[in-house]
Amino acid sequence: MATESTPLSEELPFQILRSTWQPVVNSADLPAGKVTGATLLGESLVVARFPDGSLLAARNACPHKGYDLSKSHICNGRLQCGYHGWRFNSAGECQDIPSLVNPPANKLQLSHLQNFPVQERYGMIWVRLSEHESAPLPEVPEFENPDWTYIVAPPMRFQSGYRREIENYLDMSHFAFAHSTTLGVAANPIIPPMKIEEYEDGFLMDAPFPALESPHEQPGKLQEAHRRRQRCYLPNFTTIRQSFADGDERVLVHIPSPISREECNVFWALAISPGFRGPAPESQVEFASAVLNEDREMCENQIPHEVPVNPVKGGWGVLVMPGDTLANTFQKTHRQWLMRSAKQAVPV
Ligand code: FES
Ligand SMILES: [Fe+2]
Repeated sequence: MATESTPLSEELPFQILRSTWQPVVNSADLPAGKVTGATLLGESLVVARFPDGSLLAARNACPHKGYDLSKSHICNGRLQCGYHGWRFNSAGECQDIPSLVNPPANKLQLSHLQNFPVQERYGMIWVRLSEHESAPLPEVPEFENPDWTYIVAPPMRFQSGYRREIENYLDMSHFAFAHSTTLGVAANPIIPPMKIEEYEDGFLMDAPFPALESPHEQPGKLQEAHRRRQRCYLPNFTTIRQSFADGDERVLVHIPSPISREECNVFWALAISPGFRGPAPESQVEFASAVLNEDREMCENQIPHEVPVNPVKGGWGVLVMPGDTLANTFQKTHRQWLMRSAKQAVPV
């Protein structure tokens, strides 16, 4: 039986993540009648929205001769392969083989696309590569509350594994250095003790943002001291709720959707409380993009490009507390989650 110290395979996370929902494209980038491609956990996908609004996510290879279906188009309400024109409906059924006057039923049946479960929520299109669902999408009421301003930003590709990105997102001890001219302009590098609660599906950290009211630096609203609650839903859906002294709030989410073991696409969004006193929503997104770009630099320049699943001697690097408490908590709980999920594993 696997114990805390049992070495886990580096392939295990991708096998287990097949049962989780991952974003593959922003809703706004897939209007009705559009076809696109995405790579999730090493699997090449075709994703399409049909004129009636229905969504299709399937293995990106035509059942006929394996043509890349993401290079195909929707014609007369059906996905038409660009090579020999076979046509598929949104359920993945092959409905027409143009080279045959009467395509035999058995050939049509054999030519079903390999569909994956797909859903749309929070302004993103989510795919699950397994029939088995390990957990539904986390509930974030602020993202669906019409009184809040909700913005889905363009995803940003990182040449690093998804765990590097999450560790970075949770970490507060880099603000004064990696973000010295943006988010961390007034940040204090000393991290106060933080309170962490662990749950079956992740953990919650409640701590102040490490800001310093320095006479040399006048922090703007987004850089000033605030309360910060970071909720990580394993494996990779993390929200940060910021509560400012004037009562304003923001909720951010990051979901680094894994492309390969050393590459991820960071989907992210921001909800702003009604009547927020501070920069306009567009400026907030611009500011957050600049900060994320600085984070990308950090993640892409770490060795190795992904955090190992097994702690080496001394843990996942030389960690210091409380600065690295969140990184340690994430790696520890992520590993426990993998072991629990492997026990319940359903063939994919
Ligand atoms: S490869 Fe798609 S129809 Fe031939
Ligand atoms: Fe950062």
